[in-house]
Amino acid sequence: MIVFDNVTFSYGARNILSGASFSIRFEERVAVLGGSGEGKTTILRLVLGLIKPDSGKIFVDGEDITEKSESELREIRMKFNIVFQEGALFDSLNVRENVAFCLREYTKMSEEEINARVEEILGIVGVDQALELMPEELSGGMHRRVSLARSLALSTPRMFLYDEPTTGLDPINANNICKLIADLSKDGKGLIMVTHKVSDAMKVADRFMFLKDGRAIFDGNRKELLHADHAEIQAFVSEVGFYNTAATS
Ligand SMILES: Nc1ncnc2c1ncn2[C@@H]1O[C@H](COP(=O)(O)OP(=O)(O)O)[C@@H](O)[C@H]1O
Ligand SMILES: [Mg+2]
Repeated sequence: MIVFDNVTFSYGARNILSGASFSIRFEERVAVLGGSGEGKTTILRLVLGLIKPDSGKIFVDGEDITEKSESELREIRMKFNIVFQEGALFDSLNVRENVAFCLREYTKMSEEEINARVEEILGIVGVDQALELMPEELSGGMHRRVSLARSLALSTPRMFLYDEPTTGLDPINANNICKLIADLSKDGKGLIMVTHKVSDAMKVADRFMFLKDGRAIFDGNRKELLHADHAEIQAFVSEVGFYNTAATS
């Protein structure tokens, strides 16, 4: 379980979170929605202990991570698998080498073990035909799959964290990535996806939070989101055409 207890956070004078409180179980599939600059990425960075709150507490698995040393935090981070917004690959390495890189860097696996793991994981994300291709030869969707594979290769997490995983993809590839994300959580492993796209959120999550002015101003299920009595949330939902179709059906 992840608990935010009255968390405030600022970048310099710029207040990002002001008294955010919520808890998320590891098995939940949660979308954190909100406009750009509302602090979505900041929440993921706080969960991983990459930054510390100015006040308030954050608990992961019952442990107060705001008090942890860097080496203790490393253990906490192993519980998660994060796919950051950019997901950049190394241009000079082919697909196989891109995925192997992390394993060489952060594990003591033998070359044979690394090879087997790379092939297994690229199979899971459906790019096992592209092992020898260079990043520039990949389509946007394949590129995203490989960067997903790279972060999957390292650990078997308790929970997946995704930061705007479909940004910059065309609708078909975005849809495929959402399917993949949903698939990876099929066996009950939870996820937190931060996004400004309600349509993507609907495909992978069953709990929705909406960030605004430093807090979660909404927290509910799909139906509650579609009928939320808040103009800004309605604007988000209607922007993708969901509000009108779903509200009338
Ligand atoms: N390292 C930083 N230093 C100063 N400001 C930052 C930094 N990182 C992010 N910000 C600003 O903080 C705000 C919230 O950031 P972020 O959590 O990335 O928002 P979101 O992911 O919802 O778009 C943004 O306006 C961003 O420009
Ligand atoms: Mg962001």
